[in-house]
Amino acid sequence: MNIENIKVDYSTKIPNNVGLTEDRRVLKALESWHPGYINWWNDMGPEGFQESLVYLRTAYSVDPRGWAKFDYVKMPDYRWGVLLAPQEENRVVPFGHHFGEPAWQDVPGEHRAMLRRLIVIQGDTEPASVEQQRHLGKTAPSLYDMRNLFQVNVEEGRHLWAMVYLLQKYFGRDGREEADGLLRRRSGSDDAPRMLGAFNEATPDWLSFFMFTYFTDRDGKMQLHSLAQSGFDPLSRTCRFMLTEEAHHMFVGETGVGRVIQRTCDAMREAGIEDPNDIAKVRALGVIDLPTIQKKLNLHYTLSLDLFGSEVSTNAANAFNAGIKGRYHETQIQDDHKLENDTYPVLKLVNGEIKRVDEPALTALNMRLRDDYTQDCVKGMLRWNKIIGLAGYDYKLTLPNVAFHRQIGEFKSIHATPDGVLIDDATWGKRKGDWLPSTEDGDFIASLMTPVSEIGKFASWIAPPKVGIDNKPGDFEYVKIES
Ligand SMILES: [Fe+2]
Ligand SMILES: [Fe+2]
Repeated sequence: MNIENIKVDYSTKIPNNVGLTEDRRVLKALESWHPGYINWWNDMGPEGFQESLVYLRTAYSVDPRGWAKFDYVKMPDYRWGVLLAPQEENRVVPFGHHFGEPAWQDVPGEHRAMLRRLIVIQGDTEPASVEQQRHLGKTAPSLYDMRNLFQVNVEEGRHLWAMVYLLQKYFGRDGREEADGLLRRRSGSDDAPRMLGAFNEATPDWLSFFMFTYFTDRDGKMQLHSLAQSGFDPLSRTCRFMLTEEAHHMFVGETGVGRVIQRTCDAMREAGIEDPNDIAKVRALGVIDLPTIQKKLNLHYTLSLDLFGSEVSTNAANAFNAGIKGRYHETQIQDDHKLENDTYPVLKLVNGEIKRVDEPALTALNMRLRDDYTQDCVKGMLRWNKIIGLAGYDYKLTLPNVAFHRQIGEFKSIHATPDGVLIDDATWGKRKGDWLPSTEDGDFIASLMTPVSEIGKFASWIAPPKVGIDNKPGDFEYVKIES
């Protein structure tokens, strides 16, 4: 590990460990992009709390043994920096046609367009989620949760900086234009929407937020892992550091959903409710019933599956061959890392039935990454089910079949039940409210979203966390709203 890269320079306007002081051209480009970013943050960032003091962590190092410090910060004053994981000595391209060649410190001309596109797509998701979540501060169930929301938001802002740095440093004029475009598009906009579907959906309530950070940030994790394998070393290093931050986002999601489930189970027990499907009775307790949690899960999981693209994709094969985007844990996989003669089973629609079909492994890379994603999703879900089981209820949350509610890929033109049974349009129309949140479900959840900002208190529908952030006690003031 190169010790030089661990230290972060805070003397420039933009904290960094990429030597910006010696790189006047890029420093200037980033400094001229900065005001537009701050304008975007003020317009589209968390609404109503820009003057509050928030107990946030800021990266001050990229040393895995200690990289963040916590302190009260007003969000617009957050030090968004450009931080790359330390350069690995003698790193090689770990897959594809260039397997074994030294990793590139500059963009290879032949792969420039593809690299730029992947960086822009990744970059576009970062500000999008901040936009989607900007109203949530006003209904936070506690100061603890509010702080976590804002932590996720400022870090997504930093991830935007990370991608913009790559664009400004390595892609010249096109890079500058793309960097401006990232501030121009808006989540949910008709004329300039964000690039990917899930990032144009609303995040209307806190259960959506927790589901989003669990399922959609986890898609981000998988994408970052495959880009962290990239032969283009600066991209690999950027993504590796982003993953350290990303872990907290998924923690917020997993524990958030877990705490909702915990509270629901506790309330049902106290009230002596035996049947978790007795929705009216459960809702009367002011908690979210398990069947509605399952519907929210169905929605967010399937929107996130769409982010992986088509199961069979020549783009994915090209990016792999080019050494630009690898597989999850590529370097730990025991094979030739070229996949020229391999196959991979892909779920497809064959004569009206869902079947596994062997496809060339190269074109099936999206499917493979999606399978890795699903396995990762299952782990937290088992912990949620454990909470339900320990409370004595015979109810299990499950991931719906991949043919259910899809807008991209093999199953986009058919309808299926969460169990994977194909159904016609009429049946879908009649039953989809049983499987996806209805307006009524949304209204009920919305009715619970009254803010709680008293120190150490939590809304009726969510249990307190087991431990505080940065080991703070339960009565810690995570956000000083009026400062
Ligand atoms: Fe991110
Ligand atoms: Fe994230």
